[in-house]
Amino acid sequence: MKLYETLAAEIAQSIQDGVLGLGDRLPSVRQASSSREVSPSTVFQAYYLLEARGLIRARERSGYYVAVGAQTLPPEPQQASQPNEDSATVDISERVFEVLESARMRDVVPLGSAFPSPLLFPLARLAKVMAASVQQLDPWSSVDDLTPGNPQLRRQIALRYLADGLHVQPDEIVITNGALEALNLCLMAVTRPGDAVLVESPTFYAALQSLERNGLRAIEVPTHPREGMDLAALARVLERHQPKACWLMSNFQNPLGSLMPDEKKRDLVELLARHDIPLIEDDVYGELYFGNKRPTPAKAFDTKGLVMHCSSFSKCLAPGYRVGWAVPGRYTRAVARHKLTTTLAASAPAQAALAAYLEKGGYDRHLRQLRHTLAVQQTQFMAAIARYFPEGTQATRPKGGYFLWVELPNNVDALRLHRQALAQGISIAPGPIFSAHHGFSNCIRLNYGHTWDARTEAALASLGQLVAQSV
Ligand SMILES: Cc1ncc(COP(=O)(O)O)c(C=O)c1O
Repeated sequence: MKLYETLAAEIAQSIQDGVLGLGDRLPSVRQASSSREVSPSTVFQAYYLLEARGLIRARERSGYYVAVGAQTLPPEPQQASQPNEDSATVDISERVFEVLESARMRDVVPLGSAFPSPLLFPLARLAKVMAASVQQLDPWSSVDDLTPGNPQLRRQIALRYLADGLHVQPDEIVITNGALEALNLCLMAVTRPGDAVLVESPTFYAALQSLERNGLRAIEVPTHPREGMDLAALARVLERHQPKACWLMSNFQNPLGSLMPDEKKRDLVELLARHDIPLIEDDVYGELYFGNKRPTPAKAFDTKGLVMHCSSFSKCLAPGYRVGWAVPGRYTRAVARHKLTTTLAASAPAQAALAAYLEKGGYDRHLRQLRHTLAVQQTQFMAAIARYFPEGTQATRPKGGYFLWVELPNNVDALRLHRQALAQGISIAPGPIFSAHHGFSNCIRLNYGHTWDARTEAALASLGQLVAQSV
């Protein structure tokens, strides 16, 4: 991260936390440059970035002022969820399919979609690299790139771990068809039908669908909207149950957007290790941070090989290429075997193209641009929610990713709202698809990963009106 981006991230944080309020004047460029010991041009660049994000505004001959105070954002939910902590069979697939179908229609405003806009990715450059690498593809790559996968790609992924301070060897990495396959293979490696698995509450519906398909029971653990799974609650659950795995998202959780602090990640890994429970860590959004560095995966605190770290390029570089990976620790062999016996290998051309793209550079530049766009869009969404939704609405303030979790007044029925919104050409993801107990009936997940324009703003205004009518 460049110096001006770090400075901008720090100021943005002060605005989000309310330390800098609406209308407050920022230090002059000269003051900031001398107090922060950076050049005036670094301060200028940071202020331009914040201005582009809509957080501050310049007033002629007077300086820069905060344009979006914490007080103009919707209030943030403060309480961890309180799910039923009994283990439950999962039966949500039908409802999820029904909802997801609607998010795929092109003429619908896709606030309920799980994907960011495909226009945010360097697809033309990737296509060029893909064409060149396919032309040079060694005929033997179909054999060489069988599971555990393309050696150059695994090396590039290991280099990225290294840059983030994690020592992962290429032979500890298994390439998969997207993160979802990585997660499923990890689940298969450590569970048998009838076992129980710990999940967050709310959690990513595909995690629940995987449990459902594998005949596993879900134990939902209270989860905080800002800091992720509640460890005191987890310890309590571990007294009552003998789960065979824990599946969670430590960074920018889907759907809450929560980010578990490092200390908590360390405690989580230690707590699970004391009970010898493997952690399946889904980290597909880790690269989409708005702060000054990539948040650490829980894997960084693993000393026993119990953390199975899974990620992919689907959310940050190449949606549709279906390339992901797992670093399954002591289960690497088991995961590789499951991969071989289920889908054999990931696509050789797609693996080679991604390896070539990562080698040639440009990924970090693309990521910087993507993070900036998402951060700007988040601010626009938040301001629109504050403007258009009725009192009693709360929204999370994720420090990365592209989802907002919105808690509506208690008597709003999110499933009904989903149907009403769809009739107006707007998709949303209703809360009950994120829970085995079908909870969160007054909550919705919104996707701010699509271009902010008049159509999106009108959709949020209509949605706010529908909510107001249901209160
Ligand atoms: C939290 C989470 N994990 C995993 C996935 C799946 O990732 P991939 O597309 O790489 O399989 C998604 C996609 O929506 C997701 O939101």
